[in-house]
This record gives sequence, structure tokens and C-alpha cells, in this order.
Amino acid sequence: MSHFKHIWKLALLSFIIAGITGFIYRYGMLYPLPDWLHFANIRHAHSHLMFFNWVCPPIMVWMTMQLVSKSDVSKVRRFNWCLYTMLFLGFLSYPFFLLYGYRSVHIGPAFLPLAAIISGLVMITWYWFAWLYYRERKNAENTLPLTLFDSALLALIISSLGAWGVSVFQFTNIDSPLIAAAMTHFFLAVFTEGFTVTGLLGIMWCFSDPGKLSVKSGWLWIPILFGSMMIFPFSLAQSLVSPAMLITGTIGFILISVSLLIHLFHFIKSGGFSGFLWKTVITLIAVKILFQIAAIFPADIWPGEHGLRVLYLHVLLLGILSVIFIEVYLPGIGHFAKIFFTFTTLMVIATLVMISGYWPPSFTPGNIYIWVMLASILPVLPSLRLFQLSFRIHEK
Ligand code: HEM
Repeated sequence: MSHFKHIWKLALLSFIIAGITGFIYRYGMLYPLPDWLHFANIRHAHSHLMFFNWVCPPIMVWMTMQLVSKSDVSKVRRFNWCLYTMLFLGFLSYPFFLLYGYRSVHIGPAFLPLAAIISGLVMITWYWFAWLYYRERKNAENTLPLTLFDSALLALIISSLGAWGVSVFQFTNIDSPLIAAAMTHFFLAVFTEGFTVTGLLGIMWCFSDPGKLSVKSGWLWIPILFGSMMIFPFSLAQSLVSPAMLITGTIGFILISVSLLIHLFHFIKSGGFSGFLWKTVITLIAVKILFQIAAIFPADIWPGEHGLRVLYLHVLLLGILSVIFIEVYLPGIGHFAKIFFTFTTLMVIATLVMISGYWPPSFTPGNIYIWVMLASILPVLPSLRLFQLSFRIHEK
């Protein structure tokens, strides 16, 4: 992976900046922040930098490495150009989200939603990447990781349609909060479940033997791809969801859970995922499946509620995704820092459980938000060490 090592370093740097931004959000819940810093904008800056620069480039590098060898300098350079541009735009969006969120800003005589425009450009780099990937993929043999990566990229493109939809919708005369929210959550659901989860599974299958697969490989991606497009109703306010939408969402969760269970079964059976980091990942995937199964039962749990939503996203994106990244991108180095990192992500998740609204108050420590704030800075500390160690990556 030495030919993409700078991409990894920039992605990890983004994680550190976005992580500190998350800490500032928690700090601001207890202590005063400057007047120009608003909670919604801090959250936008944090989540967009994480999505644009921490989630996408490392998954895409892994996809590229299945198709392009290090010695093919011109191809490597083409992919690098695309990924550097993506990272540059992701960094560029950060100050605009932090200062203005999605609001328009005066630039000379113009009044423009700069953060939204830069986000649009980021999505164009996704298409650029998909085009480069497609050109190499045509000539490559089918493997299970590549099949999963194909599906992940398709989901990324489909998800982006939801995001464009939100932008176009703002310029229409239709006044429907349901349609606007539905498109936003369609984007988020297909991005997180369709692209991120399938991309991560593709990475995991690079470490497992698909030869022992006892089902048709379609079971490993088709239910997730279609399911991801069906579950957005669960992220809406419960009062907005019609019975038909509820059934659609339920079928989506069932499809995703079935497919993930098959993956999990094979991962556990393969015995290839040993060590504290992989065991944490496997356990958190099981937690994610349980969460989605629990959500489909008519109980007093609604996944779209803020506390549960934030918890679920961080189990997936901090617990599962980030731990997989540090394991696969820093093979054989930084053993202690990686264990410390994994431990701190579990601490963040534990504090999010306590403020999820579903934790018994009698088991909650006093001054819980102090603990939440302190835990939120912890993953940044080992990341600084891992960033330093990343300069030692030479060969995969
Ligand atoms: C250092 C680790 C992290 C910390 C301290 C952190 C902190 C936070 C905080 C404080 C919020 C706002 C919570 C609220 O609105 O009540 C948030 C939201 C969010 N975070 Fe993180 N986060 C971390 C890691 C991540 C990662 C790795 C990702 C994605 C790759 C991520 C994606 C998001 C998203 C998408 C939201 C918006 C949730 C929503 O409002 O729907 N975070 N995070």
C-alpha cells in the first residue's frame, strides 16, 4: 500500500481533526463556546469531514489495490489524483461547514451556499473514482471482494442521487418536510449501509477464504444493496411514517440482517479474525445486527430517535469502521496504540449508551456529561501516535 500511503495519512489526519471537533461539541454542552460557533455547524463540520475524508478514501484505496499493481505507475497516479482532489475538497468544506453550515455566504456580489457547493464537488470526485474503477474492473477477474466493492460503489452512486435530490428540491415550490427529510435519510442510509458496510465487508473478505462459502455469493451483497434503499423511514420522525413505509423499512432491516448474519457466520467459522481488534469488530457487527432486529419489533424503540441514532452511527463508524482501518492499514506496527485506540472507541460507545435515553438513570454516574466529554477526546490520543507511526509504512 506504499503507493497510497499519503492518502492514508491525510485520511487519518482528517479523523484527528474531526475527532477534536466532536470533542468541542461535547465541551460546548458544558462550557461556553465563542458566539460564532453553533452546535449544528460543529456537528456538520464533524460528520462531513468524517464521511468525506475518513470513510471514503481508505475504502477506495482498498478497492484500487485489488485492481492496480504498484508497478503500474500511470494508473496509480490517476487514482492518486482523484483521491487527493477528494481529500482536498473534504478539507476545504470543513471551515465552511464549521462557520456557516449549509447557510449561504456573501462572496463579493454573490450569495452562495459554499459548503453545499463543495459537497457537490466531492460527490463529483466519487463519480470520477467510479469511472476509474470501472475502467480497470472490466478486465479483472471476479473475486468476492471485488463483487462486494462493485456493489458498494453502486450504492455510493445511488446514495448521491438522494443528496442531489435535496439540493434540487430546495429550488422547487413544494413545501413538504417529509420529502426533504426522506431524501436526506435515503442518502444517509444508502451511504452508511450500502456503501460503507459493503465496502468494509469487501475489505474483511480480503482476509478470509471465500472458497469455503456455503451459499451463493449474491446473498452477501444483494440483500444489503436493496435493504439499504428501504430502511430510510426508520430515520424519520415516527409520526411521519405511514404503515406502508414502516413495512418497507422492516423488510429492509430483515434483508440487511440476514445477509450480515451469513457474513458473520463465515467470518467466525473461518477462524481468521483473531486478536483483540478483530474480535471487537466481530462483536460490534453482532451488536449492529441485534440492534436492527430489535428495531423491527413493535416495541418502544425507534431507531430515528436522536440518542439511539448517534449511538448506532458510532458503533458502526467509530467502532467497526475505524477499528478495521487501523488494523488493515497499519499491519504489524503500533500494537499498543491500536489496542488503546480500540479500547477508547469502546469507551466512547459506552458513554453514548448512557445518554441514549434507554439506559436506566439509576445506573448512570453523576455528572455523566463530564464523562461523555472526557471520553470523546480519548480516541484522538492514540490516533496521534498512529499518525506518527503511519510515516513508517513502506510495503504492504
Ligand atoms: C473521535 C471519535 C468521535 C467523536 C468524539 C464523535 C463525536 C460526535 C458528536 C459529539 C456528535 C454530535 C452528537 C449529537 O448531535 O448529539 C457526533 C455526530 C456524528 N458523528 Fe461522530 N464522533 C466520533 C467519531 C465519528 C466517526 C468515526 C464518524 C464517521 C466516520 C462519525 C460520524 C458522525 C455523524 C454522521 C454524526 C451526525 C449524527 C446525526 O446527527 O445524525 N463520528 N459525533
